[in-house]
Amino acid sequence: MTERTFSIIKPDATRRNITGAINAVIEGAGLRIVAQRRVKLTEAQAKKFYEVHAERPFYGELVSQMIAEPVVVQVLEGDNAVAKYREVMGATNPNDAAEGTIRKLFALSIGENSVHGSDSLDNAKIEIEQFFTDADIVG
Ligand code: CMP
Repeated sequence: MTERTFSIIKPDATRRNITGAINAVIEGAGLRIVAQRRVKLTEAQAKKFYEVHAERPFYGELVSQMIAEPVVVQVLEGDNAVAKYREVMGATNPNDAAEGTIRKLFALSIGENSVHGSDSLDNAKIEIEQFFTDADIVG
């Protein structure tokens, strides 16, 4: 089934000027980038986006990392896009990520892990709506 998922290319990646290299892996896996915008997140935006992790010990550091540099927010479309992008990203901790995945190739640490991707179709919809309107998404 054709799905849409939400992606963020994180500050550790924009800082190292590797957004194109990451997009090449995304496109190489057959996912289409149907919306994309570079944005400097506000603290309020980052806090809201990661609200589910508010009680976790790494929340404060996560929020400050996400607002330190610009990010690239994206909508990816393709067959089974949510699960496929999670496979393409690799495990959250780059030490556990499979060969050829974005996090294995580029991530610096569990916090600076280069990309975020939605973990379910329901969350993809919620996350996409935080950054894009229907008119922004051109499939
Ligand atoms: P992400 O997919 O963006 O979702 C939450 C983020 O928290 C995660 O990727 C990591 O970058 C970050 N994080 C930092 N420390 C941890 C941790 N110990 N466990 C899980 N996520 C962590």
